[in-house]
Amino acid sequence: MLEIVKRDGLARLCKFETRSGILKTPALLPVVNPKILIVTPKELYNEFGFRAIITNSYIIKNDTNLKNRAQTEGLHRMLDFPGIIMTDSGTFQSHMYGEVKVTNDEMIDFQKSIGTDIGTVLDIFTEPYWTREEVSRSVSETLERTRHACDIKGDMMINGVVQGSVYPDLREDCARKMATMNVDVHPIGGTVPLMEQYRYAELVDIIIASKKGLAAGRPVHLFGAGHPMILAFATLLGCDLFDSASYAKFARDDRFMFTDGTFRLNDIQFLDCNCPACRGNTLESIKKMDKKSRESIIARHNLYQITNELALIRRCIEEERLWELAEIRCRAHPALLDGLRRLRFYKDYLECKEPISRDRAIFYTGSESRARPAFHRYTERLLERYVPYFHKAAIFTDSKKPYSKYYASGFNRVRAAGYTPIIMSPFGPVPAELDEIYPIAQSLFPGIIDCDTNEDVKKMTDLFFEKVKFEEVISENEIKSGNIEYDTNQIRVRATAMYQFGPEATNALLHGKIDLVLSRKTGKVRNVISDGEHVLSMRANDGFYTLRPEGAKRIIELVPTPKFRAIVVDDAVPYILQGRNAFCQFVANMDPNIRPMEEIIVVDKDDNFVATGRAILTWDEIKSFKRGIAVKIRSGGSEV
Ligand code: GUN
Ligand code: ZN
Repeated sequence: MLEIVKRDGLARLCKFETRSGILKTPALLPVVNPKILIVTPKELYNEFGFRAIITNSYIIKNDTNLKNRAQTEGLHRMLDFPGIIMTDSGTFQSHMYGEVKVTNDEMIDFQKSIGTDIGTVLDIFTEPYWTREEVSRSVSETLERTRHACDIKGDMMINGVVQGSVYPDLREDCARKMATMNVDVHPIGGTVPLMEQYRYAELVDIIIASKKGLAAGRPVHLFGAGHPMILAFATLLGCDLFDSASYAKFARDDRFMFTDGTFRLNDIQFLDCNCPACRGNTLESIKKMDKKSRESIIARHNLYQITNELALIRRCIEEERLWELAEIRCRAHPALLDGLRRLRFYKDYLECKEPISRDRAIFYTGSESRARPAFHRYTERLLERYVPYFHKAAIFTDSKKPYSKYYASGFNRVRAAGYTPIIMSPFGPVPAELDEIYPIAQSLFPGIIDCDTNEDVKKMTDLFFEKVKFEEVISENEIKSGNIEYDTNQIRVRATAMYQFGPEATNALLHGKIDLVLSRKTGKVRNVISDGEHVLSMRANDGFYTLRPEGAKRIIELVPTPKFRAIVVDDAVPYILQGRNAFCQFVANMDPNIRPMEEIIVVDKDDNFVATGRAILTWDEIKSFKRGIAVKIRSGGSEV
């Protein structure tokens, strides 16, 4: 069973419970060849901290000695590994060497007989050069075998491998069908040749297509991905598990893996690695070693690179900055950059899983950063939801943030003349009243703008002015003064509500007399009182609102269910009323358009108000997880 602990976009930190212990994901399973142990499984566990390994049941089955030992002692004792053992089924051998002479039934039975924790269906490896018809036929066969494996798996967990070659629709269809079966883990298979040929853009198509079809509550394993260079990016795309045979294979031909590529011992000019394997060695000392010692040191170095990178990836998810790490890693190879650039095609899908705000600012690492779902959402919401207060626009050029602090006098001057200040920022036009919301205030761009950015900003600006239809658009320095009276805070309060909740809820929330409580320290809006009721509070860190119970009740009254709501079962109501969080298993229905970290109203089945809080997961995730927090409840009316 999978429980999500923390998320960043499609990436997640999870706990995966198996009968041999809990695996914290993202995790990599080193491939153990039972015939050649360069690093022993015990060392992988104790020295490197790997809690799961993968080995090949087909190799074991075809070796009389190993087969007998595995069936009498059990796999864990034979390999002397106290953690979780996954086995593969012989499919990869069919890809490498042609037809294998075993059946799916035989392989499932054999994997059960040796005590594998997670066995694998004998799926059909769909090659990238196959015709659509061949692929389609093979996928049907893999699905049939998976269905049967689920029937006979007993208490062994099973890998249901998503196949479909380079055809995203076949991948998605295969994934969707497998999601309905009693599968425990979903590897994405048939991808090794694509990685070997550096076809990363197609790899992105395949991963996203598979993710779309799969259920969120099961781990996704990217078969054959074990290079530290690709782990951050693949995790960002929602892969939880990886395996690596390359740490050993590369060591066999004197190749060192690093996060920026693979380098041959004879090509490296200086060993700048401080991992426990390299420490104390020089290139010369390694070159002088006998083959076996050299192989052992390089294999260990490769494993340390993997464990280091995984630790960094976990930290980045925890700190909500995996996008930055993945973007930086993708600069190691032009083909990886292709993969990153391909993500632009999936903006809408990524946006659904993108948190409404993060605690940290977005750092621009290159023009690809502007294609991130956080900026895409800003564009969409600006175009769909923004209504100006003044119907003429005065253009400002980007400068220091927050804009309303550095441009205060300029903004006052143009507003007094009846103009809305619009700042031309590196991610498009920003109406001054929205300058404090995430990601506008919480993003850092270089001062020297690149051509891609200029071009994109121009496109977005054209769309914006086409949509908003100001009566006039001029440069701010053409405006001298004016005497129109206005309240900047009132303009900000309405514009933020429109951006965050849309017109329907804004009309419910803000009517009659609007009084504002300002922070004594900063002068910024804190509480919004509508007709005497405290409906909203504004957060200082991301410029968005938290919903107050009075505001939530207004939405319930005027906006039809399930919009803005999570509907919980009766049993959970007393706990939530005490301020406990709402867990996945207690949510009966939810607004499918709610994004992670968005404000949400918890109601009972009769649509009575129970609490307000922030959604941690989306509805499709909540449906699929049996554990974990779905909605973080704001207890006793305090802010979350
Ligand atoms: N190892 C690498 N790719 C694959 C695959 O597609 N299927 C299986 N079973 N194992 C693999
Ligand atoms: Zn090293």
